Amino acid sequence: MKINCIGILTSGGDSPGMNAAIRAVTRTGIAHGFKVKGIYRGYEGLMTDEVAEFTTESVSNIIARGGTILKSARSKAFMTPEGRAQAYETMKKEGIDALVVIGGNGSLTGAHLFAQEFNVPCIGLPGTIDNDLYGTDLTIGYDTTLNTIVECVDKIRDTATSHERIFFVEVMGRDAGFLAQNSAIASGAEAAIIPEDSTDADQLEHFIGRGIRKSKNSSIVIVSESPKCGAMFYADRVKKEYPQYDVRVSILGHLQRGGSPSARDRILATRLGSGVIDAIIDGQRNVMIGVRNDQVVYIPFTDAIRSDKPMNKNLIKVLDTLSI
Ligand code: F6P
Repeated sequence: MKINCIGILTSGGDSPGMNAAIRAVTRTGIAHGFKVKGIYRGYEGLMTDEVAEFTTESVSNIIARGGTILKSARSKAFMTPEGRAQAYETMKKEGIDALVVIGGNGSLTGAHLFAQEFNVPCIGLPGTIDNDLYGTDLTIGYDTTLNTIVECVDKIRDTATSHERIFFVEVMGRDAGFLAQNSAIASGAEAAIIPEDSTDADQLEHFIGRGIRKSKNSSIVIVSESPKCGAMFYADRVKKEYPQYDVRVSILGHLQRGGSPSARDRILATRLGSGVIDAIIDGQRNVMIGVRNDQVVYIPFTDAIRSDKPMNKNLIKVLDTLSI
């Protein structure tokens, strides 16, 4: 089937650089003769027909803006067959032949189901701060968020040192520890607690006690968010077992998702966004565009949504060695 019109949406948690990706898809698409339509509020807008045709001007002055001009949503209705059937009706009504989805794991799972059920060509872009999509070295938004976290931890270090305190700083990442591990390395934290590695109270004591014995007067432990054992959990355990330590918790929360994208994220989003149009012209279908060893690559949805993106275990050793 010939593709004339491309629809684009952002879905799931927003991430800095999504706008740069929207801009790249729109302008590259128009430059190659495609009609481009923006779909608002993710899959919700696809079901309720919140669609507007985009011109090159529609995406002016957005490359530096965080968030997403298309808005985003986590759509429960699209996860049902009825919801997807409704979305398909909008595709037909609007004359959209192919769908570009910028989002994380849940959003690309939705795209995968939609593509299978209705034989709609779908192309994904990895838009998530978590960096947890399989097959791509980086996701759009991860670098900006990493920098935001490091800036926050640098500030927390000032007060931690002044008061000789131990801080547990909780960062986002859903089920992945990329943000926690790498922000710990970049901020000189004493430890990271990540889902990819097991950390029990003894290990914690080992990290913290070792730091304090070596006349460090503060410690920072970055904790990957977790419903059961986030920063509060570890802080409480340490407070109970080692009352001699003055412990505080800082949960960074949604400020991690905001802000103007870093140059690195803007460039990544632009490369991947124009890669979408190359992929469509190439006849690629139902793949996520990613980057590996600085090369743009196509990753089948079935791989991209795997939940076991490997973490470089060497990073865990490096952090441990440097925190003595
Ligand atoms: O997937 C991005 C992310 O920011 C995760 O790191 C976090 O667990 C989640 O979204 C938070 O979602 P919400 O904004 O819906 O609370």
